[in-house]
Amino acid sequence: MTKPSNLLIANWKMSLSVKQTLALTKALLKGVSNLGKFLDFSLVLCPTFPALSAVGTLLKKPANIYLGAQDVFWKGHGPYTGEVSAEILSELGVKYVIVGHSERRQYLKETDDMIRHKVMAALQYNLTPVLCLGETYAQRQAGQRDAVLHQQLSRDLAGFSLTGQQNLVIAYEPVWAIGSGKAVSQSDMLQAAEVIEQGLRQMWPSETVSRQVRIIYGGSVDDTNIKTCLNQGRLNGALVGGASLQAAGFIKLLRQVA
Ligand code: PGA
Repeated sequence: MTKPSNLLIANWKMSLSVKQTLALTKALLKGVSNLGKFLDFSLVLCPTFPALSAVGTLLKKPANIYLGAQDVFWKGHGPYTGEVSAEILSELGVKYVIVGHSERRQYLKETDDMIRHKVMAALQYNLTPVLCLGETYAQRQAGQRDAVLHQQLSRDLAGFSLTGQQNLVIAYEPVWAIGSGKAVSQSDMLQAAEVIEQGLRQMWPSETVSRQVRIIYGGSVDDTNIKTCLNQGRLNGALVGGASLQAAGFIKLLRQVA
């Protein structure tokens, strides 16, 4: 993995039409090109599935901007109505895929076992999974953050390790901070990143963890707090939802990173 430049992932969820997605992509590309030549971050844009191909075409040139998907199915091909495989995503030029987002755990009833299979399917096609972990508010109040993180890690990554070429991103996303307008404090993020690091080291060789796994934060990141997630020990980036939906605001955020 080319480290440790920061990784910014824009998760556009189901918030934009295809037309709006393309307009935003074009505006962002223009804005990023104005930021200068040597950007010290990688940017991943995760549009809605129907816009992947068109956004991918727009992203052909810039070297540090990648195409990401918001989900993947765990099977290779076959009679799975409505699903999209890692192979198809890879064919479209996708490099990253979000897996296990709390909205999918909540609304689509995704289980840790499904998520584990999705992570493995993505890795098989050299997509980098962005595995989302995090506690709910009730779990937080009950002092269960660390236990939840350990449990999700051990279930979502059970029974395999990364091969030499494979990379993984773990996004610590406290469920209650998503879309709330209130990110957690920097010390909170760093503690959680440390817990994730420890959990990973219990499962995988230290070398694999330090070289091939990146840890980022997600949950109400915007231009006022983005710096708290950058180059902070084990924390090197952010998964940004709402604040990535407007070109001007997102460029403002990226300017803090560049
Ligand atoms: P938010 O979303 O930035 O709007 O809180 C983050 C996410 O859900 O990944």
